[in-house]
Amino acid sequence: MPRPDPCRAVIFDLDGVLTDTAHLHFLAWRALAESLGLPFDEAFNERLKGVDRMGSLALILAQDPSRSWREAEKLTLAARKNAHYQRLLGGLGPGDLLPGAADALAACRAAGLRIALASVSHNAPTVLQRLGITDRFDHVVDARTLHRSKPDPEIFLRAAAALGVPPAECIGVEDAQAGIDAIKAAGMYAIGVGAEGALRGADAWMADLRGFESGLGAHTLPAPTALSAALVARTVASA
Ligand code: BG6
Ligand code: MG
Repeated sequence: MPRPDPCRAVIFDLDGVLTDTAHLHFLAWRALAESLGLPFDEAFNERLKGVDRMGSLALILAQDPSRSWREAEKLTLAARKNAHYQRLLGGLGPGDLLPGAADALAACRAAGLRIALASVSHNAPTVLQRLGITDRFDHVVDARTLHRSKPDPEIFLRAAAALGVPPAECIGVEDAQAGIDAIKAAGMYAIGVGAEGALRGADAWMADLRGFESGLGAHTLPAPTALSAALVARTVASA
């Protein structure tokens, strides 16, 4: 898929794209899995990236089909992982933006693009605050209101609708396979952050966000029109 022309919006994932909280999620899930005697390594963790908390827990517990868990027990386990994750977040600050992230956000703003955050993490507002970048976004999708986690396109379509930009004029940026699948299902151009080829279906890859701005300049247009907003509303209604 060619890069959108015009491009009016960039929709960023958070964990693993703007900051390395993906590693903190990994540490907290691994501790929980090991406490239950379940295997957990980096390769398995790849399947959890971009997947919401209860969905991730279900994948971990499914490794031992001989054990069954009541809903209340699952909620307790998820709360335990989240408490651990939040303790790890305690050390996060503006210095923890990944290389190129601050420049990428500034370049989008300078190019007149609309900017949204599409993270399924309920902790995203706290992470943005700790990084000091809450005000860089025109819209942050409220993960608590989502019906379906990535790879469903809902979160990216919701972001585009809130920005008033048709999906075809948006770029999505993701580090997770579930996220790339969600962007593509939303009909957007997908940039994968990670090793080239590691994320199936991405339209382009970057090792990190350094140099992100170099691809933006030629494709930007002024703010979206009312017509664009109506188009997005129809797209979301039919999704
Ligand atoms: C995603 C992460 O951004 O958020 C997943 O990639 C994580 O690893 C998910 O499970 C949910 O996060 P939280 O903070 O709501 O538990
Ligand atoms: Mg991510």
